[in-house]
Amino acid sequence: MVIINPNPAIPALHRLEDKASVDIRYSLISPYANAHIYWDKEEGDLVYDLEEPILNEQGKIDLKRLEDAMIELINVNVAVERSVEQMSEYIDKTAKLLISELNLKIKEEDYEKIFYYLYRDFIGINEVEPLLRDYFIEDIECNGTDTPIYIVHRLYRNIRTTIKFRDPEKLAGFVEKLAQRAGKYVSYSEPLLDGSLPDGSRVNATYTKDVTSRGPTFTIRKFTKVPWTPTQLIALNTLSPEMLAYFWILVQYKSNIFIAGGTASGKTTLLNALAFFIPPESRIVSIEDTRELKIPKENWIPAVSRIAIGRGGVGEIDLFDLLKNSFRQNPDYVIVGEVRGKEAFVLFQGMASGHPSISTMHADSVDTLIKRLETPPIELSPTLVNTLDCVAIMSHAIVKNKETRRLRECVEIINAKADGSALVNTPFVWNPSQDVFYFKKQSKVFEKISVRYGIPMDELYEEFSKRAKLLYNLYKKKVFGFDEMKKIVTDYYKNPSAVLSKYEVDIR
Ligand SMILES: Nc1ncnc2c1ncn2[C@@H]1O[C@H](COP(=O)(O)OP(=O)(O)OP(=O)(O)O)[C@@H](O)[C@H]1O
Ligand SMILES: [Mg+2]
Repeated sequence: MVIINPNPAIPALHRLEDKASVDIRYSLISPYANAHIYWDKEEGDLVYDLEEPILNEQGKIDLKRLEDAMIELINVNVAVERSVEQMSEYIDKTAKLLISELNLKIKEEDYEKIFYYLYRDFIGINEVEPLLRDYFIEDIECNGTDTPIYIVHRLYRNIRTTIKFRDPEKLAGFVEKLAQRAGKYVSYSEPLLDGSLPDGSRVNATYTKDVTSRGPTFTIRKFTKVPWTPTQLIALNTLSPEMLAYFWILVQYKSNIFIAGGTASGKTTLLNALAFFIPPESRIVSIEDTRELKIPKENWIPAVSRIAIGRGGVGEIDLFDLLKNSFRQNPDYVIVGEVRGKEAFVLFQGMASGHPSISTMHADSVDTLIKRLETPPIELSPTLVNTLDCVAIMSHAIVKNKETRRLRECVEIINAKADGSALVNTPFVWNPSQDVFYFKKQSKVFEKISVRYGIPMDELYEEFSKRAKLLYNLYKKKVFGFDEMKKIVTDYYKNPSAVLSKYEVDIR
């Protein structure tokens, strides 16, 4: 049977300042569908080319006959519930049955390609399915027939794709399919669709010609997953309970934390997990480009920047505007999904004036991070950079032949200098050969906290070790749920000893 992998490994892409030199290709539905993003010299813009198997004329005819016959047979709703393997097998069996019934002569290599299209159209949502599988795609937008589908890409933002609906009937059929997958119904009398696809993505669509000029339209917003909790990250061995306990103290005492790392190294995932430790009554403002954060707190004001999609779009609101505005709400914590440009200045000024921040930034090491902060377009002074207390460095790692994410080190900034270098202290490091985390029991940030809040150092370390034990016990007891974790942290802030005794942490 043909093996399809709809979740190939996420590549480590780099953001290139010079878009004209972008030329990358990665797998979406392995081994059949790829994304190829490159600079189109003629049009002077980036293009997202969806590469799929090419069928010869006979192949197209065979596929059409199979699809027509299959529509009669397949109950899509049955298919949606199953695993990828089960569904592939189902399609494969049905297709082979029909091939012999219809007496089609199909060569093995042609069958594989045909199988891909059957899978894509019956299990997935046609040519849009590979886009839905692309980790880097945030939004998919179609404004009617004879106009390309646009996407919003994590790294390259708005891009035109090579996919276009030409036939209004076909596009209307596609919208019907979206409705059906969302468990909804569209018709000429009820032409607006608002629902969610089986993977959780939001879908909006219009069905008739009269609602919009170029025929039916649709927008798909990729989903926000339920974030991983701190204990789940321990279970994945992404970090140690001690590292989490350390961050819990830092977060409680309003330290400024940056999470750095390469693309898809798990920065946002860690950010979400650290947000659990924010004291319950705090006012939190979060700012991001993509809807990814899910902060487990009541007093949370999320804001998402609006980018103008397609060509000539209006109504752009960037991170800079949002951040400036957010300080008017006098937040206790400011969370920036990803710091990229001029908004960093506003953020650091906020940090310097007592609005602590937990944010992520694309950089492989503390050195590159500081250089990026101190050079254009950001250009912060070393004094401002020094308001940063700790940088967590996330990395992709292959451990025992498996792709994983590790918190490589926690680096405390002692003194950043104008030349981009910095004096640092590294309380935690990951040892790749043994896949363990080392802890050097000396934190400069704890010293700052001790002075600022008048808490003796030994008390801080005692508190740190209680929390580390608590987190370890929670992990051992498999307390992984979002709401459970949220409640435990809230309870801990109110009555720590009750929580410690409930989870059998020995306190003396
Ligand atoms: N701790 C982890 N262990 C295993 N896999 C992880 C971990 N954290 C994240 N991932 C995987 O990596 C993907 C990327 O994670 P995430 O979005 O947090 O990374 P990121 O560094 O913020 O990416 P980007 O550079 O796109 O902002 C997730 O979809 C998830 O599949
Ligand atoms: Mg991210």
